[in-house]
Amino acid sequence: MKTKIWLNIGVAIAVLKGLCACSNQLPQLGKAPIKEVIEMMTLEEKARIVVGTAKACPLPPQPAPAAFKRKVSPADYNTFQTKMKVCGAAGDSYAISHLGIPSIIYADGPAGVRIDPNRENDEKRYYATAFPISTLLAASWNTELVKQVGRAMGSEALEYGVDILLAPGMNIQRNPLTGRNFEYYSEDPLLTGKMAAAMVSGIQLSGVGASVKHFVANNQETFRNGINVIVSERALREIYLKGFEIAIKESKPWTVMSSYNKVNGEYTSESEKLLTEILRNEWKYDGFVMTDWWAERDPIIQMKAGNDLLMPGYEEQVQIIIDAVESGRLDESILDRNVTNILKIVEKTPSFNEYAYSDAPSLKEHASLVRSAATEGMVLLENRNGVLPLNNDIKKVALLGVGAYDIVVGGHGSGYVYCSHKSSLEQGLVEAGLQPDSNLAITYASYISQQKEMLPEENFWHIPTVPELKITREELDYLANTCDIAILTICRKSGEGDDRKLEKGDYYLTDQELQMIMDTSSAFKSRGKKTVVVLNIGGVVEMTNWSHIPDAILLAWQPGQEAGYSITDILTGRENPSGKLPMTFPRRYEDVPSSTYFPFMVNDSSIVKYEEDIYVGYRHYNTHCIAPLYEFGYGLSYTEFEYSDLKFNTRNLADTIIISVNVKNVGNRAGKEVVQVYVSAPVSNIDKPTEELRKFSKTQLLQPGESEVLSFYLIAEDLASYNDKKSAWLTEPGVYQVKIGSSSRRIYLQGEIENKMNVMRKIKH
Ligand code: BGC
Repeated sequence: MKTKIWLNIGVAIAVLKGLCACSNQLPQLGKAPIKEVIEMMTLEEKARIVVGTAKACPLPPQPAPAAFKRKVSPADYNTFQTKMKVCGAAGDSYAISHLGIPSIIYADGPAGVRIDPNRENDEKRYYATAFPISTLLAASWNTELVKQVGRAMGSEALEYGVDILLAPGMNIQRNPLTGRNFEYYSEDPLLTGKMAAAMVSGIQLSGVGASVKHFVANNQETFRNGINVIVSERALREIYLKGFEIAIKESKPWTVMSSYNKVNGEYTSESEKLLTEILRNEWKYDGFVMTDWWAERDPIIQMKAGNDLLMPGYEEQVQIIIDAVESGRLDESILDRNVTNILKIVEKTPSFNEYAYSDAPSLKEHASLVRSAATEGMVLLENRNGVLPLNNDIKKVALLGVGAYDIVVGGHGSGYVYCSHKSSLEQGLVEAGLQPDSNLAITYASYISQQKEMLPEENFWHIPTVPELKITREELDYLANTCDIAILTICRKSGEGDDRKLEKGDYYLTDQELQMIMDTSSAFKSRGKKTVVVLNIGGVVEMTNWSHIPDAILLAWQPGQEAGYSITDILTGRENPSGKLPMTFPRRYEDVPSSTYFPFMVNDSSIVKYEEDIYVGYRHYNTHCIAPLYEFGYGLSYTEFEYSDLKFNTRNLADTIIISVNVKNVGNRAGKEVVQVYVSAPVSNIDKPTEELRKFSKTQLLQPGESEVLSFYLIAEDLASYNDKKSAWLTEPGVYQVKIGSSSRRIYLQGEIENKMNVMRKIKH
């Protein structure tokens, strides 16, 4: 009887849909309530809304890592490319024009808009700006700056017809060897969350959506499609989810991208706990969730879990969903829920609002933003006897290292950006009036072009590195006689699909690189001249063996397309470095807390145990008294700052505590300082790291002698730990130490505050 009634209702709806279609009065998205629009959809249309069109393919022809099940032939790739409205975008969604639903365009990524600059039968080039990598942005500790960068990236997406920018990447840098660390911010969840929130706010201010990714615990590339992360609930909450929680609550990203991996036995895209209980119910998220590309799991489990959209989509998924509804395996109301989540966002998109994009973003303006933003995240690691900034007598430079002439502006994979140019360090120095040795420049240029002809071609997964050119002792002696200083670059590349290697040429310097640092330094030192090393890298490299040798070391990261100019601005003192490390540089790789649990060889059944638990990064080094080489939060400046007047409006955590501190520039150059607030919890029956970053802020540009008072607002919940047994965030009673300084180990001021009662936020499940 029941079935009969439903059948009759079904027939009635179908007739109604037919009638409306004929009379051209179908409800339109944006004009009618979404519910009414969905009521007019056929089952197939609903299924198509939750599955991308499969037109786009960011994957290049083979060889793709074995981890990808779906193989795409070169022919398919070309067809996909030309079919896309925005050529080279990562994906698009299905349009239902009679209901006013447009197709939505998705494009990568964290360092700028990744689209194809070339289009068929079109002379014009569609370049985008290559912004600094996310790690550099995090090293600026400047949320306003990151927001500004996000806004610029978003505006390029908007002007190229993109609706959702697949950024930011915000996984925790659990291990220095993770191949995609350059796309991520930090080893610390607070810094990660604040940076991501700023980036999302910036992107979305420009009118396009952001996608925080990869949710969650995607902390390695090795077997990323199947790896099973075994992590305690506490570490998951405090370290891996925390940044996402901050970004979701503070910036409301339009979309979230689930990750490829499993967490405790369950694929994240199939996890109702992660996608519905935590994301939607606890954090009140109201955008939509998409899969990472080609994360081909069970579409029905994904639908039920709350993974609204399957990307880039393939035809079989549509049929599987239709069949599941028809067979009763998938309740249609779940499909409707997911369609609703997607359409609520579609209504906000430029495509829906028929934005007339120009295909002409403000590339010039953004180039100058890249130049200055990059300087703010560079970290001055060593500066013996104030060798930097270069003094005015320095003119002739022995510019050494392949990276100086062929600079690495970013990483590869989906985070790569096709920009119109990249400025080399040689160009930067010349613009500043310095004179890089011209014979050396000619030698490097011809060496690099010869080498490139012999190397395999670049592709999505791999950009081959030109090996260092051997410079003989005699050549170095000649350079040391004729030049005023040596500037030597060490560069590294990494990207999606592979983790970095614990080998010479990657984590370790090659023998030749080490020799070059030693020989250059000794040749210049013996003539009373200095050597500066510029690190053009995306993540941590071994430095203990050699950091004592050069006079100065500038960590320039992969600073985006204006690399050479930005680095020169720091070297010459046009800009004062104010970047601070967003991760620890250990003395030895073996000191890294996850070093023994980071897989290099895995197979289908692989698991990775996060045995270090919450002791990631400085939480480990500080608590277990292991001295790092350069600690989290560390970075030098050309000036000095004095911290004073630590004040608390109250010491009682029952109220909001306002902490204020005075920071004065006591040196003789204008500069900015990052002030970091760490808190030590009282002894409790659960383990606590000795220090945790709880607040941070950056001063304005302070002139010599100028001061600024920075204030931090602290509430009990800011100090909570996750208690597994109670399934709750808990701030226990006791006395907490507030420690203020310029790094996780340079603390200048301290004070005590007190929490008089248990403050508990229970997680309802
Ligand atoms: C990456 C994502 C990216 C997507 C689309 C995947 O391979 O993991 O970060 O957004 O491709 O290009």
